[in-house]
Amino acid sequence: MMEQARNQLIFALDVETLAEAETWVRRLRDRVGVFKVGKQLFTRCGPDAVRMIRDNGGRVFLDLKYHDIPNTVAGACREAGRLGVAMFTLHALGGGAMMAAAASALNEMFSSNPQQRPLALAVTVLTSMNEDSLREIGVSLPPAEIVPRLAALAQKAGMTGVVASPQETPVIRQTCGKDLIIVTPGVRPASAAADDQKRVATPYQAILSGADYLVVGRPISKASDPEAAVGGILEEMARAFADR
Ligand code: C5P
Repeated sequence: MMEQARNQLIFALDVETLAEAETWVRRLRDRVGVFKVGKQLFTRCGPDAVRMIRDNGGRVFLDLKYHDIPNTVAGACREAGRLGVAMFTLHALGGGAMMAAAASALNEMFSSNPQQRPLALAVTVLTSMNEDSLREIGVSLPPAEIVPRLAALAQKAGMTGVVASPQETPVIRQTCGKDLIIVTPGVRPASAAADDQKRVATPYQAILSGADYLVVGRPISKASDPEAAVGGILEEMARAFADR
């Protein structure tokens, strides 16, 4: 269970430089299986950030949230595949055709080695959006209805999984079944501060309610003892895997 927890814990490398990122990867790689590269680090360092993690034995979650016309997103997915990332994100709001183009680009590219195919994860509705900000852009359904709808669309279009807050996980599981991978940020051990996360759950609650992977940043990076913080999270995850 501890090995499964390690493989399914993702540390968010929300830092400015490649050197800082590498320090974290070396420090945590024995305890954390996956490192998330987001828009800030990628815009600054580019594919070098991905290569650095791979060279240090880590798997990479490339969180660039692609959202464009199908042909462009398919091309970006192929490049993510070529870089050797383990998982990456795109926006379900790009639509079924965009997601299907992404899936078929990956299927074609990895037809002879499907176990190397990156997990394609759809972001449904950003957790920074609420009913008012959705109405502002012409979307009249509440998040509670759009989220499972977009998750189902993503699944139908061939996405491996979705990114979802702990609160959204149960309804997505209910709608999409057990095969869809759910990656959950907004995770806070009981002892940590919530920071700017509005809807949080403990690692134990998040896994128990159906998450497969957890994304954790500041509860580790800002802890006085980051290794101990990771240890506590892994222990909670392992306990939840055993209990569910
Ligand atoms: O520091 P913290 O644990 O809040 O970091 C969570 C990570 O997950 C950040 O990189 C953040 O951008 C990302 N994320 C999130 N909420 C989402 C999607 C991604 O916090 N809905």
